[in-house]
Amino acid sequence: MTVHKVGVVGAGLMGSGIAQTCAQSGYETIVREINQPLLDKGIERIHGAWDTMANKRKLTPEQVTENHARLRGTLDLEDFADCDLVIEAVIENMEEKIRLFTALDRLLKPGAFILSNTSSLNVTQMGAVTKRADKICGLHFFNPAPVMRLVEIVQTISTAPQTVEEIKQFAISLGKTPVLAKDTAGFIVNFLLIPYLIAAIRMLENGMASRDDIDTAMKLGCGYPMGPFTLLDYVGLDTTLWAAEAIYEEFKDPLYAPPPLLRRMVLSGMTGRKSGRGFYDY
Ligand code: 3HC
Repeated sequence: MTVHKVGVVGAGLMGSGIAQTCAQSGYETIVREINQPLLDKGIERIHGAWDTMANKRKLTPEQVTENHARLRGTLDLEDFADCDLVIEAVIENMEEKIRLFTALDRLLKPGAFILSNTSSLNVTQMGAVTKRADKICGLHFFNPAPVMRLVEIVQTISTAPQTVEEIKQFAISLGKTPVLAKDTAGFIVNFLLIPYLIAAIRMLENGMASRDDIDTAMKLGCGYPMGPFTLLDYVGLDTTLWAAEAIYEEFKDPLYAPPPLLRRMVLSGMTGRKSGRGFYDY
């Protein structure tokens, strides 16, 4: 199936980044949020990114105009009816995802793909509530989605090999490098990244080193673009907590058990950059 029109559910940090990527790669793109203020915020973020790219001469004014024309926001999921491919990037809550997959399966044409950007939830369970489990897989982007070159394609036991092949081509058309992972919690990146981030929080809890020194150490000692606390704030402490919980739930490996400080910061609304407070203040 040739993909012409893409639907993105959710215009948060990831959803807006994914919608931006699709629209600037030439796809007619529609992005849906649950209320007007959230939709406006997501669309403004995308328009702002294109303005920045134009100021840096990475886009011509004509390209910015074309991108704007390809991107549309909506509050109504029914507007997705003629999409060839839908990527969901809603909250990491299985009940929400299942409700959404059921609704999308009912309204999309039979050949359309439904992909989840989940960072660690079970994609098999999402596919199982539809009549098209062979057309469902994970397509996991990394923050910031328009910049990070990797996507993980997550193949469930029901995903057809043909679907994997077509999604691989779609990912390449977005300028991404796809890697293939089985549907086990954490896939590749978070299975390795989460224990590292958790270990940094434990070091801080135990007073082994300061926040700034841990960040500096990993930046300058290992050449990472950001230290773990800057990255935690960037990714979102809530997102990190959900990922840790999902992987811990699946494997019961203490390496993934969320540290008390992480849980308490999230409970206090300190979710990182997006809330203005995390390990750093913004
Ligand atoms: N659209 C287009 N371009 C964008 C953009 C956007 N939304 N956001 C940033 N950029 C561009 C900037 O304009 C800049 O372009 P330039 O090099 O031509 O000037 C470039 O990206 C780099 O941005 P900055 O100059 O602002 O800042 P840095 O050079 O410090 O890079 C970074 C920022 C790319 C975020 C870099 O620090 C980095 O790679 N950090 C690590 C990020 C990471 O690890 N992400 C993965 C997290 S894990 C995850 O997401 C999975 C989840 O499930 C938990």
